[in-house]
Amino acid sequence: MKLIRAKDYADLSIKAANIISSVVTLKPDCVLGLATGSSPVGAYEELVKKYQAGVLDFSRVKAVNLDEYVGLSKEHDQSYAYFMRTNLFDHINIDPANCHIPSGLTDDPEGECAAYDRLISDLGTDLQLLGIGPNGHIGFNEPDSVFLPHTHCVTLTETTINANARFFANRDEVPRRAYTMGIWGIMQAKRILMVVSGSSKAAVLKEMLTGPVDPNVPASVLQLHPDCTVIADRDALAVLDR
Ligand code: GLP
Repeated sequence: MKLIRAKDYADLSIKAANIISSVVTLKPDCVLGLATGSSPVGAYEELVKKYQAGVLDFSRVKAVNLDEYVGLSKEHDQSYAYFMRTNLFDHINIDPANCHIPSGLTDDPEGECAAYDRLISDLGTDLQLLGIGPNGHIGFNEPDSVFLPHTHCVTLTETTINANARFFANRDEVPRRAYTMGIWGIMQAKRILMVVSGSSKAAVLKEMLTGPVDPNVPASVLQLHPDCTVIADRDALAVLDR
């Protein structure tokens, strides 16, 4: 695993966007695995700036997102589909038909999950962008006794509900379940790029990088990926560097 040290969130975002840009430049029809949460927002802003400056073209790029809340339509302002449109897709020239995310409203969860895995397998991700939850989750792969490989429906932990409550009017509105790409879906990507910012992630960052590979810290599985880069800012590195 490669660790890149960033000064702060702004620096981290620029570095992440530069890496993503290089993938799009080298392979204009690349497949980007994209993430939600606050961590990648700055990188998305930098990508929009590059698009607006005319240095990036997303017309042939395909996007495959990690996860979606169960029960939220793609129009709901807390859905991850809405997040991706407002933070990135609406501001660049990506074809909406090439932007994939599980449906939160499917009436056939098993079929939806199996179809998502077939899609991931057919597309093959060139770069998967990730954040990390305070409990070590990636996508919505929560701490568990095993790594679940395939796209599945997950019951969110209290830690995750609490962490994500800040995006909702109140905690009761946070959906209790989500669909998430599984560990295979993430690990099949040719390259992985994780962005980690802030002191609330400092303990779990150290655990993920230096602890055993353990499904109780889902992100620790990234130690086994042949091409994984982590960009962390000073606050996130505080425990590792102590
Ligand atoms: C959510 C997402 C994850 C994300 C995590 C961390 O739970 N499903 O993909 O990594 O939040 O979010 P943040 O970056 O806001 O800390």
